[in-house]
Amino acid sequence: MHRELHFPTPIYIADIQDPTLNQELERDILNWMNQDKGVVRTNVKGWHSHTNMQDLPEYKRLVSMLYAAQKTIYDQEHLDSEPFLGNMWANINPPGSMNRAHIHPNSLWSGVYYVKASENSGQLKIEDPKSVALMVRPRMKQGKPPRRLWREDNYEPKAGRLIMFPSWLSHFVKPNSDGKTIAGNINFKKILKNEKEDEKEEDDEPKTRLEQMAKLKYDPITD
Ligand SMILES: [Fe+2]
Repeated sequence: MHRELHFPTPIYIADIQDPTLNQELERDILNWMNQDKGVVRTNVKGWHSHTNMQDLPEYKRLVSMLYAAQKTIYDQEHLDSEPFLGNMWANINPPGSMNRAHIHPNSLWSGVYYVKASENSGQLKIEDPKSVALMVRPRMKQGKPPRRLWREDNYEPKAGRLIMFPSWLSHFVKPNSDGKTIAGNINFKKILKNEKEDEKEEDDEPKTRLEQMAKLKYDPITD
């Protein structure tokens, strides 16, 4: 007997070796927070900037780095389109803060770039997107199962680390128990060759799973 695995969920991780970038970003994001009370989206207790970070001149270096990384991902993912960074924002999460579980509608690739992080400062948690598999949870043997059987995984924040994933992947930021995390959050949009950048999408707000289900055309049967 042999085993075949289908439909993997790709997560791309890069450690960017540019310490001065993070120093500049930390200074600029803290200045931004001091001048702007920000918005409330998925953030609980943390500061969430407005979502036009990609258009502000002080973040040009970060934006170019993100485009370069995204081009590599598009190549690997066999995508025949040009990356387009649709919106971006900064989060500052002090102790006690978190971000609720959500997905990013109307985007193709989403992710986070950590500017500053310390231990126990709020892991990024991703969840198995195969929601149909949740109908049964068999008891597992003792010990850690192989990675292919995990239903969730957690990433420790690390300064200079970029993590990118498909925008349909449900994720959240666990409560920050120590230190302060500063991060840039990224949404590359579903813009294909020859499509106009100024085409307005219907609704870019992050959606929790319940909000997403409320939009379904059929009534899900729940028990
Ligand atoms: Fe997100």
